[in-house]
Amino acid sequence: MSSWIDLSARIGLPVKVNADTLELELGAGVVETECSVRDVQEVRPVMLDPFADVRPPELYHMHRGVRLSADTEKFASRNLRYDITIIRPGTVGPEFIKTHGHYHPPVPGTKTFYPEVYEVVYGTAWYLLQKVSDLNAPGDRVEDVILVEAKPGDKVVMLPGYGHITINPDPASILVMTDFVGSSFSTIFPPVKATVGGAYYILAPNGEAIANPHYHELPPLRRAVPNEMPKLGLRKDVPLYTSGSQDPDRLLWLLDPTRFDGDWLTALAMR
Ligand SMILES: [Fe+2]
Repeated sequence: MSSWIDLSARIGLPVKVNADTLELELGAGVVETECSVRDVQEVRPVMLDPFADVRPPELYHMHRGVRLSADTEKFASRNLRYDITIIRPGTVGPEFIKTHGHYHPPVPGTKTFYPEVYEVVYGTAWYLLQKVSDLNAPGDRVEDVILVEAKPGDKVVMLPGYGHITINPDPASILVMTDFVGSSFSTIFPPVKATVGGAYYILAPNGEAIANPHYHELPPLRRAVPNEMPKLGLRKDVPLYTSGSQDPDRLLWLLDPTRFDGDWLTALAMR
């Protein structure tokens, strides 16, 4: 049986993914800037059990700057980047497989931070979003922690000022997700390392949330699902790539979040 899954219709680009090897096959006219594999060694510093026996060691594949060759200038001129990430199912010790996690920097000259938008293409994603009072002392005080569950078609806004970690909670399926993000800044990893991961560890098999003792003050975990946000140019029935390719200016809130004058928390429906 072939493990290749054709995701062209869901992604809006001719691509296939291999559910066993996590490989991505780019179809005609599709190019990428870089591809890298995240090994468990790089995630150990943020795991509840850093010595867990994890096999295979490969956790996820990241493809950066994926686009139709013809769209290269369209995105580059606007500092927009589109990525595809493939995360295998399984566990890292007691936790579901997760990404390392990171924060985004503030937008220069403003008091806000760069947001991002994720799209689930295949499988299920849980996104742990957390806002700390001080990125230089991330363990001192957490203002908000939200676990967002997303299914194929869902677009999920990584709210300005919220660090984010992606979790694959489905033991039987790979998770394929995409994102659009500003290409003019670098993500920030040290505050996640300093606190040995996110505010809560999410455990297999039922998603039990364990408070991370490296944080002094923790609010209760809120659980949410995404709301459709057409005001941000995001529609559940339109692939993220298609929206960005057809009207890239609609995504410029990714570089200038003040373009959205609403309440960012309306992007989520609390449960
Ligand atoms: Fe991010």
